[in-house]
Amino acid sequence: TSIVILISGRGSNMEAIVKAAQNEAWPAKIAAVISNRPEAGGLDFAKSHGIETAVLDHRSFKDRASFDAKLVELIDSYKPDLVVLAGFMRILTGDFVRHYEGRLLNIHPSLLPLFPGLHTHEQALEAGVSEHGATVHFVTEALDHGPMVIQASVPVLPGDTPDTLAQRVLKQEHVIYPRAVRWFIDNRLSISENRVLVSPPEA
Ligand code: GRF
Repeated sequence: TSIVILISGRGSNMEAIVKAAQNEAWPAKIAAVISNRPEAGGLDFAKSHGIETAVLDHRSFKDRASFDAKLVELIDSYKPDLVVLAGFMRILTGDFVRHYEGRLLNIHPSLLPLFPGLHTHEQALEAGVSEHGATVHFVTEALDHGPMVIQASVPVLPGDTPDTLAQRVLKQEHVIYPRAVRWFIDNRLSISENRVLVSPPEA
């Protein structure tokens, strides 16, 4: 299995996936980590772990469609079976999403369908929920609404700020994202009627 991971920043989710792949000796290769920002911190981690990196700066494209078309070309040069969005902060065109249908995963820092979009921790605090979390889902054209693979929840505690809550959620992201990717690699995920089925491991 060949995997391409897309990042825009810190890349801690990418890091968690790379570490799990190495520690658990996944039958998969992280073929490349691609960032739309040259300054993304995660690029250094990837390089220092022997992973090929590439940058495609969205600012040098005239519009979303031309950026996405070039991004598809770049990603496909690695012949990935799976594309993993890990803090990739660009909205993707329908063409892009359709091209990777069934092999494009994202992590969103909320218990979807609650709080799609940005600033999810602020949204959760404002809404006064007692539970918050993160969701790994297949990407479809409806933003943050694709079939869900796994969720993790954390309590919202008195005195929480967006930052303290984000940290608590992020820890769980680092648990569930590698797990979801592993399930994909092991062919345990199938999508039926917009729902994900996780089949048991092979004996
Ligand atoms: C994570 O909270 C992820 O859920 C969200 O953006 C953040 C990225 O963090 N989409 P990192 O770059 O993986 O550290």
